[in-house]
Amino acid sequence: MRDAVRDLIDNAMKSARAPEPFTARAPSNIALSKYWGKRDRARNLPLNSSLSISLGTWGSETRVAPSEAGDQVRLNGHPLAAGSAFARKALAFADLFRGQNDIPLLIDSHNTIPTAAGLASSASGFAALTQALSGAFGLALDKAEMSRIARLGSGSATRSLWHGFVRWERGTAEDGHDSHGVPLDLAWPAFRIAIIEVDTAPKPWSSRDGMNHTVDTSPLFAGWPAQAEADCTAIETAIAGRDMATLGPLVEANALMMHATMQAARPAVTYLTGESWAVLARLQAARAEGLAAYATMDAGPNVKLIFEAAHQADVDRLFPGARMIAPFDPDHTDFRNKN
Ligand code: DP6
Repeated sequence: MRDAVRDLIDNAMKSARAPEPFTARAPSNIALSKYWGKRDRARNLPLNSSLSISLGTWGSETRVAPSEAGDQVRLNGHPLAAGSAFARKALAFADLFRGQNDIPLLIDSHNTIPTAAGLASSASGFAALTQALSGAFGLALDKAEMSRIARLGSGSATRSLWHGFVRWERGTAEDGHDSHGVPLDLAWPAFRIAIIEVDTAPKPWSSRDGMNHTVDTSPLFAGWPAQAEADCTAIETAIAGRDMATLGPLVEANALMMHATMQAARPAVTYLTGESWAVLARLQAARAEGLAAYATMDAGPNVKLIFEAAHQADVDRLFPGARMIAPFDPDHTDFRNKN
């Protein structure tokens, strides 16, 4: 069985030019309906669809240019050793495009996410790198095609090609051609995200290892794919209705179920700390008093809240120092990549 993405790149590269400098930006994203579990690890195909909100100007900016001094990778202004994990991943990804050809490249990547926010940058990193490589080689790839390619770097990167809400269709084809991001054509200007930083220590498991280990060993995982698919559809419907009272509880339940599958893995995969649970308890108490804010957590201890602008001051009072994001504010989406 051929790989649809490799075929896509090979075809596009037939009309590639010699690389020219090209810079691309991509936003990070937070899944409201989680991707957790792969049906094909080699092609990075998910068991269930997922849906995210992009984080505006928080993301990655990556420049790809020809290099006269062999391959070079820089991160946040610093040159990286060729053997470092980031450099190896970035160059292996560039190899998808240049194949066996000797085309030395400079890959210069910057995170535009405040490091203290403790957010993963692999989604925006691979989305920006895909666009930068495509631009450098002068390829005529559209965003859905680049989303499929970014998927080979990291699943969550499929959703980082666009601003706003993005659904990653799981697809059903064995070769993976129908598994890519699809932007939802709607704005929700009052939508807000708060990031409550709990801990920035390195995580015990990468999301990939934690996911695969959960699929392999958790007896609770069997119930996840169907529920996650149903949640994704219900979450999309609630977003279409700008209905936070329906959306919030669904988002929170979906995240907690994902963490429950990990908790039952053997041994357990634990990302949430006592502090994460303390934040959730405070949120629950405030909700009993009328605060319409809801939590979601990924492969790390930080807690992200979703709510509408009318509750921003209350969230700020409850969690001083929380970082606020207005994902539909034009000032937060100044690198809107439209097409
Ligand atoms: C919990 O996209 O990092 O953030 O495809 O193996 O690179 P790989 O995994 P990754 O997993 C993200 C998991 C998550 C949920 C989500 O973003 O949907």
